[in-house]
Amino acid sequence: MDQVEEIKRKVNIVSVVGEYVTLKNTGRNHKGLCPFHGEKTPSFMVNEELQIYKCFGCGKGGDVIKFLMEIEGLEFVEALEKLAKRAGVELKKLRVDSRGGEKRRMLEIHSLASEYYHYLLTEHKVGEVARKYLLDRGLNEKIWKTFKLGFSLSTWDGLSKFLILKKGFKEGELVSAGLSIKGNRGGVYDRFRGRVMFPLLDSGGKVVGFSGRVIPELARKDEPKYINSPETLIYHKSQMLFGLSQARQAIREKGRVVVVEGELDMISSYVSGVTETVAIKGSALTEEMVERLARLCNLVILALDADEAGEEALRRSVETLEKRGLEVKVVYWSDGKDPDELARKNPSSWRKLVDKPVSVYEWIMKKAFDKWGMETPEDIKRVVKMTVPYLSKIENRVVAEVWVKRLAKKLDVSKERVWEEMEKVGMDSRLRGNDGILNQVQNDEKISRGDKLTERLLTVLFQLEGGEKSLVKKILSGVSLDGAGGKLLVKWIESVDGKVASFIKKLPDELKSVAEKCFINEKEDSLGEKEVVRLTMDLVRDRLHIERVDLISKLEVVEELDDEEKIEEISKRLVWLDKKERGLNY
Ligand code: UTP
Ligand code: MN
Repeated sequence: MDQVEEIKRKVNIVSVVGEYVTLKNTGRNHKGLCPFHGEKTPSFMVNEELQIYKCFGCGKGGDVIKFLMEIEGLEFVEALEKLAKRAGVELKKLRVDSRGGEKRRMLEIHSLASEYYHYLLTEHKVGEVARKYLLDRGLNEKIWKTFKLGFSLSTWDGLSKFLILKKGFKEGELVSAGLSIKGNRGGVYDRFRGRVMFPLLDSGGKVVGFSGRVIPELARKDEPKYINSPETLIYHKSQMLFGLSQARQAIREKGRVVVVEGELDMISSYVSGVTETVAIKGSALTEEMVERLARLCNLVILALDADEAGEEALRRSVETLEKRGLEVKVVYWSDGKDPDELARKNPSSWRKLVDKPVSVYEWIMKKAFDKWGMETPEDIKRVVKMTVPYLSKIENRVVAEVWVKRLAKKLDVSKERVWEEMEKVGMDSRLRGNDGILNQVQNDEKISRGDKLTERLLTVLFQLEGGEKSLVKKILSGVSLDGAGGKLLVKWIESVDGKVASFIKKLPDELKSVAEKCFINEKEDSLGEKEVVRLTMDLVRDRLHIERVDLISKLEVVEELDDEEKIEEISKRLVWLDKKERGLNY
């Protein structure tokens, strides 16, 4: 994409980052306090030559577009648009794919539909019933505007007629946009009828779908309380967080987000002053949603209704969030109300509740006590049963110990009894983990030790620009290196390039990121020849060890097969490995 390159060439990452972070020139880099995690000593680097940033504290890094995406919580295209403006580049339409036209039409339909519904709610006399409903629920005109709420007629084809007769759209277009449904006897009718309409917005604030809540006076029997747009070209349920557009700024500023179940929970929470609220619309918190939140903040406060289904959903949500490395807290309340009722009835106590979220473990204990009490041995059994699946997920033994103790004390039973239960649920998952997760961890460590050494060596070598290459080449000769770091190292010592930056610019993408990371790293002091030799030898030892282990297991196989030729070959290599290792000590 040419324009992306053009824009990147025209803006300087140092001045863009400089607007958010105070940077100090350290010679090769600009250095500052990382804006993405709290720190007191700077480990956030910006390199002007390569136009990249990297934090050695939290690991975030990338180019100027990525920086804007991260810090402003923007999507790629939005960040690009912002930079284009800054660079004075006029952005041509980005990749109009074959369905681009169809998408544009669909967005237009939604925009018009949203205007239409909003007009009926705010201006037309038929909207009276909806206006009254919303006012009764404590939502005034200002909120109707903020969320662009609307009203759909209870007749069969109010919207369809408007879009077809007045705006010239075709029936088929309305059907694929999800706003109309094909009738049995030809023609189409409106999906949403007699409902309060909530527009669902994409990250750019465009309407991509709707949800509609019945208005009791207009409801027919057995109608679902809420209905939603189906999946379309532009609406994807698994990504939709209701209210994100309105809450984005607050989420970033406050560094946290409150996640509630429903649209009206979101709006009431917002009205009470907790403007950093989004709703998952009664579905599960998906990885895509988590990703969108992770761009904006590090703390997620769950405020989900805890009915039977809610508790299970909450546990899965916690797992998804923690897997992404986010901190998770839970809002606890004891009565069966939902956030909408709580926030509306007493805004300040809702704000306080959100400010005092508890840990997931504390939350589940409280919920279990609320639900079962602890009068009889049966109650206690049930409480333990509900709590233990959570506690057994705690990986740190000391932390688990603390919670087990707290639970035991509250229940007035022995710690051992709780541990017994823990073992019952924990045991089989831990056993399963033994041949899966545990081994994986060991392997990862082995690989990463070699990788770490390679990266440190590259860091030092890059600081020496072209120096010490031939020495390293000599020590490494005959040793097989693998992985991106290994390939990069070979490439560098073989290359005639003296300038690191120009060498890096020419690298293929898969090697570039490792190279950039090493180049921008200032942690390693340049220690000259001695350090280079020591690091290289450590690396060689590591590689020799890994190859030896690998060869020995191969040898067992070929011996079994009586493959003389292979046995000979492997034995020779093993002898060479020994010789090389001894030679390292000169
Ligand atoms: P709830 O049944 O808890 O409704 O569903 P609510 O949020 O309290 O709604 P109000 O206060 O009665 O208006 C939680 C959420 O699940 C989705 C909606 O997003 C709802 O807000 N839902 C619920 C549906 O999508 N379809 C339904 O039929 C019901
Ligand atoms: Mn409700």
